[in-house]
Amino acid sequence: MKKQLKSKKYSLFEAPSLSDAKMRKKHDIENIVFEIDQKYQNIGINKTYMVKTYGCQGNIADSEKICGIMDNLGFVEVKDEKCADVLFFNTCAIRENAENRIYGELGRLYPLKVNNPNMLIVLCGCMPQEEVTVNNIKEKYPQVDIVFGTHNIYKIPEYIYDAYTEKKRVLEVFSYEGDIIEGIPLKRDSKVKAWVDIMYGCDEFCTYCIVPYTRGSERSRRPNDIINEVKDLVNKGYIEVTLLGQNVNAYGKDLKDMDYTFANLLEDLAKTGIKRIRYTTSHPRDLDKETMDVMAKYKNIMPHLHLPVQSGSNDILKKMNRKYTKEMYLDKINYLKKVIPSISLTTDIIVAFPNESEEDFEETLDLVRKADFEGAYTFIYSKRKGTPAATYDNQIDPVTAKRRLLTLNKLINEGFAKGNKRFEGEILEILVEGYSETKNHLLCGYTGNNKLVNFEGDEELIGKLVKVKITKAYTWHLRGELI
Ligand code: 5AD
Ligand code: SF4
Repeated sequence: MKKQLKSKKYSLFEAPSLSDAKMRKKHDIENIVFEIDQKYQNIGINKTYMVKTYGCQGNIADSEKICGIMDNLGFVEVKDEKCADVLFFNTCAIRENAENRIYGELGRLYPLKVNNPNMLIVLCGCMPQEEVTVNNIKEKYPQVDIVFGTHNIYKIPEYIYDAYTEKKRVLEVFSYEGDIIEGIPLKRDSKVKAWVDIMYGCDEFCTYCIVPYTRGSERSRRPNDIINEVKDLVNKGYIEVTLLGQNVNAYGKDLKDMDYTFANLLEDLAKTGIKRIRYTTSHPRDLDKETMDVMAKYKNIMPHLHLPVQSGSNDILKKMNRKYTKEMYLDKINYLKKVIPSISLTTDIIVAFPNESEEDFEETLDLVRKADFEGAYTFIYSKRKGTPAATYDNQIDPVTAKRRLLTLNKLINEGFAKGNKRFEGEILEILVEGYSETKNHLLCGYTGNNKLVNFEGDEELIGKLVKVKITKAYTWHLRGELI
């Protein structure tokens, strides 16, 4: 039996604490059903909203919840911020430049508020989970009306109601994660591809990363809630789901009353009849043989894995608290390539982590060559206040960091091109997403291996699975012909 949602009245200006967030309070996670209190219904009639989303897929999925709640309150979504009565910034805290972008955006909002005095500016997502952000907003950004974090999206109706009726600034960010709230209405961006949260939070505490503090401890949704959501998507005609979590391979570890793993979930979802399953993000230490075997067994689990390695140096991996070595990583992917020979691997890499020597960096290049990655997100290490690595000596100078990033990117791009080249001449199934952003007369879509294909075709193919013959491979995409 799920409990009904009962919201406690918050105290205004409740701020988060990173050191509190670090303590993993042992408490039983409850599953609560979302509902909108009678009092808040229709507060959005004749009003509009817009959500600007930054960062990872987790934030994209959260924005679908924000939009779902706003639609249910009677607000109408608009795509131009000048027309929005409520403007949300769903923010990312992972690197400093992501944060600076948001401050820049907030800075240029004054004229909008002058033109529309009823406008509410809302800052939510990961940035407000940091004390430093909350203090900054309090002191320097009076134009922001509502601030909330990653754990209290379900309280949006109350915050908006209070901001409008009490005409006060609303600020509430929890240091600790709360319960799992099921049943928040989702306004999905696509009619064929869906994000499905399977768990929240992260317990890994990689020493550079702010996420365990901003997203709280690992909490898995109940298997049946996830399976039912995917079955419902199948009934509605969805073709592809991407399962989401910061470390999906840890799924189920916190489900005390059952022995149920990510591999079990993947297998149960593969049996629902959904045509395509993807998942992200994986942690190399927790990726187990059972999961790889399930991937190999089911044709509807796509042959692509994003497996962030971060570094190829065992010394740096240790300092990053990644809990695996370069050799362990290579062993896992070699097993994966053995059971799924067609697999495409992509990764995340950080260069210039404190203390990274030229030899350490060479180890990373060596790993990239051995792993045959077909793409990667590469980053220069960014110091995040409150994380252990921010206090490490020997931070790397920016010139060296930039040089390493350029060298690495060159190698990664070669892998990208090579990964595309291997499909030349093949007939592949792609899910058509729409018109290409750069070549507008062409349709585009992704293959099972997550390769972007452009081809000529009619609009009616959008949202369908079609067969395309690959005629030419470029570095970033494939060109194909419909067959
Ligand atoms: N600096 C640079 N990159 C980071 N990432 C996470 N934290 C930092 C940081 N402090 C990268 C990691 C992670 C990806 C989502 O972002 O590579 O996998
Ligand atoms: Fe951050 Fe590491 Fe957790 Fe990924 S696994 S979210 S890098 S702490």
